[in-house]
Amino acid sequence: MNPKEFSRRRRQLMRMMGRGSIAILPASRVKIRSRDVAYAYRQDSDFYYLTGFTEPDAVAVLVPGRSNGEYLLFCRERDKLRETWDGYRAGPKRAISEHGADDAFPIADINDILPGIIEQCDRIYYTMGIYPDFDQQLIGWVTALRNKGGNSGHRPDEFIALDHPLHDFRLYKSRAETAAMRRAAKITARAHKRAMSICRPGLFEYEIEAEFLHEYRRNGVCASYPSIVGSGANSCVLHYTDNSRQMQDGDLLLVDAGCEYDYYAADVTRTYPVNGRFTEPQRAIYEVVLEAHQAAMACIRPGGLWNDPHDAAVRVVTRGLKRLGLLKGPLQKLIRSEASKRFFMHRTGHWLGMDVHDVGDYKIADQWRVLEPGMVMTVEPGIYIAPGMRGVPRRWQGIGVRIEDDVLVTRDGHDVLTKDLPRDPDTIEALVGSAL
Ligand code: GLY
Ligand code: MN
Ligand code: MN
Repeated sequence: MNPKEFSRRRRQLMRMMGRGSIAILPASRVKIRSRDVAYAYRQDSDFYYLTGFTEPDAVAVLVPGRSNGEYLLFCRERDKLRETWDGYRAGPKRAISEHGADDAFPIADINDILPGIIEQCDRIYYTMGIYPDFDQQLIGWVTALRNKGGNSGHRPDEFIALDHPLHDFRLYKSRAETAAMRRAAKITARAHKRAMSICRPGLFEYEIEAEFLHEYRRNGVCASYPSIVGSGANSCVLHYTDNSRQMQDGDLLLVDAGCEYDYYAADVTRTYPVNGRFTEPQRAIYEVVLEAHQAAMACIRPGGLWNDPHDAAVRVVTRGLKRLGLLKGPLQKLIRSEASKRFFMHRTGHWLGMDVHDVGDYKIADQWRVLEPGMVMTVEPGIYIAPGMRGVPRRWQGIGVRIEDDVLVTRDGHDVLTKDLPRDPDTIEALVGSAL
């Protein structure tokens, strides 16, 4: 992403904070997988959003109006030996020349430098509770300033939650952000098609997952969350990630997988018959979910409410389940009593962005949020009929269907970022096994 994008974001935040404020953001920690092996490092989304800096052991500081520099970065020093083992480090000098910091210091010196800068400020913008060790460090600095100053010394006397304004900024995607999300959606759609094309009875779920990993890595991206590849009864487990079962003739397969391109996620689900032909009950459920998906999609436009797509999807799913005899009673009563929740137990979508379940409030002052251009959300109705579900005839059991797409709210409606990937059941049937 262009460095100007990060500097624009910092300016936007600093304008909101005003003079006399300081924002402090620690980088994400390295997480150990086992003994001396770490998980793949992923920068903290808020930290990356404002810095574009991808290294651990860093702290970003924003001080609007500070004459000696408004954007300070504490980071690891260059170290020939460590870099031989673990790879490149920018170091403070390049943090300035290449990463846009006004000034930069070794992270080891933060105790000596940062308290003196905090001391000059009235308000601290900081997100508590994400990095407990750093919380303690910051509280220690502020406490020391209090003890030192008595009644005469200057010190900040206000803590403000940084995540609140920052997450509201992140909810509205810029042109650069939607470009990244389009790319994530395109690669993801290609991976889904690739998986469909090789799908057949006898394969293991992990062989489907492997198609995603192959398509992701050949495009230099990674998964934005662990792929969910659930066949047969596993299609009814919402966050199934074992992906270990051998797929059988007659199974339905639910695949929920998306990649992350340049820190922006796609989140996409398709459900299809392993052998390329829906059974009659599978197709009946599929068509109800597809109709719910269309009804939800039709509500997405500026001025609509966040909850409209969900309400629309619930109405269609309830009506469909009643038509199929899976719910009984007057329709309005079934809708009011949320009878469909037994089969459709999650919401119809969520914000999407740097995080899969992205940040941003869904309500403002207890009212559902009004949709505005630049917001990106998923649309993902589903019906899940787990084996053994009480009062449900056997022919429906073991059918789990979800259809999930990524949608950008535009000035005059919406744009489906994942439109390259078919949803129509006939087209899906034609795609399954097409490479065999
Ligand atoms: N992949 C998680 C979700 O669909 O929300
Ligand atoms: Mn989702
Ligand atoms: Mn998903």
